[in-house]
Amino acid sequence: MKAVNIGILGLGTVGGGVANVLARNRVEIARRAGRDIVVTHAAAREAAQDVNTDGIEISNNAFAVVNDPSIDVVVELIGGYEPARELILQAIANGKHVVTANKALIAIHGNEIFAAAQQQGVTVAFEAAVAGGIPIIKALREGLSGNTIEWAAGIINGTGNFILTEMRDKGRDFADVLAEAQQLGYAEADPTFDVEGIDAAHKLTIIAAIAFGIPLQFEHVYTEGISAIDAADVAYAAHFGYRIKHLGMTRRTDQGIELRVHPTLIPEKRLLANVDGVMNAVLVHGDAVGPTLYYGAGAGREPTASAVVADIVDVVRALTTDPGNRVPHLAFQADALSAIPILDMADVVTAYYLRLQAADRPGVLAMITQILGQHEISIEAMLQKAPSTHEAGVPIVIISHRIRERQMNAAILAIEAQEAILGPVTRIRIESLASD
Ligand code: HSE
Repeated sequence: MKAVNIGILGLGTVGGGVANVLARNRVEIARRAGRDIVVTHAAAREAAQDVNTDGIEISNNAFAVVNDPSIDVVVELIGGYEPARELILQAIANGKHVVTANKALIAIHGNEIFAAAQQQGVTVAFEAAVAGGIPIIKALREGLSGNTIEWAAGIINGTGNFILTEMRDKGRDFADVLAEAQQLGYAEADPTFDVEGIDAAHKLTIIAAIAFGIPLQFEHVYTEGISAIDAADVAYAAHFGYRIKHLGMTRRTDQGIELRVHPTLIPEKRLLANVDGVMNAVLVHGDAVGPTLYYGAGAGREPTASAVVADIVDVVRALTTDPGNRVPHLAFQADALSAIPILDMADVVTAYYLRLQAADRPGVLAMITQILGQHEISIEAMLQKAPSTHEAGVPIVIISHRIRERQMNAAILAIEAQEAILGPVTRIRIESLASD
């Protein structure tokens, strides 16, 4: 059978990895796909030194690849919104299948891209867009298709997890660890995407869409980053038996779907709390299967290439399939997506970790507990440290039971308004991640 010709846009970290893996595993991949798969054309600004470019025509214009009539599948690995969006839409218009690792593009322009692909009868595959090398899209979209998905929680940014792990284990400085992540090729071109949770929000948008059969709605994700995490919070969390992770959480409730990325205290006994370094993990709870956990490298050249190449193999296997019988882009048929709303963050119910600095005098603790009580917030545990010589007041740490965020917001405002409270209250949400 004729070989399938691949055109790659971008031979950087991931693109170079894809070219290398396809060349190195060519025979093994052909045994799986049933045909030879070869990269014949690539767009790159300069010839990469550590990339196997044997037999690949290199163009400096990406449109030359997209418009090359001999190319069957376009692999978009340049990232960003434009010209990636225009290139993908052009490839689709040319009747080519597309594979991409571009989570930002899928999260924001995926609805438009999938509609165009469906109209043309081609596939846009995006496994590498979420959690690097972990086949989480395939698991959610195909392996769990018998379930009603109840919730999914994930550590889905390798850079952020690497930073939190190094800070906790080695006491390293935030900026220093971030620089190392950039050097290793984990971090986004704009590293604020990693540390402020934007990259994780892109990925969570995709997870929620295929878990619940809803359109991609990045604009509704509540997003909080890790740049304000203090070493004291890491230590107090450990005291109470928790680890702080930057978690993406999506849950189906009767009122709507939770869609949120923020630092989260997780019980240290949970597997997810022990996912360290650049590794990612996604915990998915289905009504039939119960909890399932997917773990692996969330970033890096060859782990991401692994997911891209798996998509290429899937696309090649489905080349002769009737477009109406292919796996839908968002797991559910395009005309069966649900309009269930995304829940306002103020309506989300979680437990909380609070840390505040208070004047060390009679009645202050009583005042705090009274305000919490007035807002129906029940305290699960509390810790007050002895005053130290180098700071005013005493630190007080409180673990609350579950409460609606609106009530906690009001209580925090009331506490911060007290003259005995020295500075803002630190608040970190807690998830038990229990399966019941
Ligand atoms: N910057 C991303 C991360 C790369 O650190 O997880 C993989 O999407």
